[in-house]
Amino acid sequence: MVGSGVNTVDERRDVTAIVLAAGKGSRMESRIHKQYLELEGCPLICHALAAFERSPVNRIILVTGAGETEFCRKEIVEAYGFGKVVAVVEGGRERYHSVYEGLKAAKGCQDVLIHDGARPCVTEDIICRAMEGAARYKACVIGMPVKDTIKIADEEGNASHTPDRSTLWQIQTPQAFSYGLVRTAYDRLFENPSMERGITDDAMVVETMTKQKVHLIKGSYENIKVTTPEDLEVAGVFLRHHSVSAAGLEER
Ligand code: CTP
Ligand code: MG
Repeated sequence: MVGSGVNTVDERRDVTAIVLAAGKGSRMESRIHKQYLELEGCPLICHALAAFERSPVNRIILVTGAGETEFCRKEIVEAYGFGKVVAVVEGGRERYHSVYEGLKAAKGCQDVLIHDGARPCVTEDIICRAMEGAARYKACVIGMPVKDTIKIADEEGNASHTPDRSTLWQIQTPQAFSYGLVRTAYDRLFENPSMERGITDDAMVVETMTKQKVHLIKGSYENIKVTTPEDLEVAGVFLRHHSVSAAGLEER
């Protein structure tokens, strides 16, 4: 057992992390895909990889865009010395296609953590909480209680109703599962293409395709997804606060 803060991770479990970096970053409106933009001295994707590298996960699978695997192997994995990365695989059109490629490459592990490479502020502590959650509940997602009031809009753009905020969470990653469970859920999804509409996270696949309940575990309001240009600046501020975030992340 190793402890990180208040976490106690069972080191006997065999855990693979899938780090997703196969998106096009269209909302970032940048010539370079957002995962390769420089953030605090290195490509953005390196921050999430560094957090998993430091964590107790056994190995990492990096999922990249079509034609980007060689670049990532050389310029990211080798250049920054990510020794836990055992495979770099090509993703697909939608996030869930990329996850499926990662899951196929992760075959054989007990638990799997799925993480958006576009969340550079993830910490070792959050990763440990997700690992514990997978071991205890079989399915869990990192998230935070919503701070703003949320309204459901009608077709005319008016507020139709206001859900009770105390029941609302904003969901982040990592999302962590028993491998067999999430693999079965994804296999079923791809056998039923009509179910693919509107899938935005892995928990939805497990909720829709199996009877398993997905446990919610608190992460951090700093664990943001870099989606639009201002997010890059905010992520930079948060990373500067984490003393260890970029420590040791030097290009070799
Ligand atoms: N992702 C992926 N494969 C896809 C789409 C997304 O691996 N086909 C990854 C992204 O690289 C990112 C994470 O999933 O790390 C979350 O997706 P998002 O923030 O939507 O990133 P993009 O799809 O790249 O951005 P956009 O939606 O603005 O195009
Ligand atoms: Mg997207």
